[in-house]
Amino acid sequence: MSLSLSSYFEQARKNASNHVNILRDFRYFLSSIGIVKSSIVLEDDLVLSKVKEEAVKDFFFKYLIGIPLDYILNESSFFGYSFYVDKRVLIPRPETELLVEEILSFSLEENAKIIEVGTGSGCIAISLALLKPNFKIIASDISSSALEVALLNLKKHKPNNLLLVHSDWLTYAKPSSIDLVVSNPPYLKLTDPHLSELSNEPVQALVSPGGTKSFFDISDQAMIALKPGGIIIYEHGCFQQNEVVGVLKESGFSNIQTIKDFQGLDRIVYGYKC
Ligand SMILES: C[S@@+](CC[C@H](N)C(=O)[O-])C[C@H]1O[C@@H](n2cnc3c(N)ncnc32)[C@H](O)[C@@H]1O
Repeated sequence: MSLSLSSYFEQARKNASNHVNILRDFRYFLSSIGIVKSSIVLEDDLVLSKVKEEAVKDFFFKYLIGIPLDYILNESSFFGYSFYVDKRVLIPRPETELLVEEILSFSLEENAKIIEVGTGSGCIAISLALLKPNFKIIASDISSSALEVALLNLKKHKPNNLLLVHSDWLTYAKPSSIDLVVSNPPYLKLTDPHLSELSNEPVQALVSPGGTKSFFDISDQAMIALKPGGIIIYEHGCFQQNEVVGVLKESGFSNIQTIKDFQGLDRIVYGYKC
């Protein structure tokens, strides 16, 4: 016998003591399968069709074993755009939108050449490409499966000023040819306690030897690829600012600036090639 929507929700809530956003997330899910009057969740006895009942069961199965909502829905919102996501890529984070905001605030040439390394879903590069159609953007990743997801998002949003490249950081870039390099690289140490909460996301998107190797590699390569006056901008872990500033100095960058995120935590750093 079919159960009502409210019975499914009640059952799930009993098993979900650690899911503080269960009602909000369930509503997102319901609207994704066309049940939009989500106030019915607790009040009504809507009996589901067989197909929707299976979808609800599948949702709670995944949700209660800890699969993030964005992966269940295959959708993530970033800078007002919707991106396809699955476990091949990192789920875009709200803090990362600050990188895009900051880049938009720079006085760059109308047709500036920009490279994003470690593009994952493509959320940073595609948002920039849509907002600045005259920029010429290359987005690269070492993970071919991440690039498959970025390609889906490229086809979804169709910017005509963005190229995807399969590469180890910036190894493909010509010397002194680029105006800005942006990256939200992997920056956790393998021993970071937060990794246990992130077990559904690709480890290659999260971990870098010592937490800083990716910053060293990208900064050295960016110093060669950037034009004089070019900018490098990173997102980094909230306790890494001094280390990342040190890496930039060591690679020869100057006029280094830092920015905090919405929670007042150190999060963004940028610097200039003289
Ligand atoms: C933290 S994720 C960032 C994804 C996306 N840019 C975002 O901000 O949501 C880091 C990305 O760097 C990629 N990556 C790791 N090592 C790399 C390397 N050596 N060269 C290029 N990309 C790399 C990973 O595959 C992953 O997609």
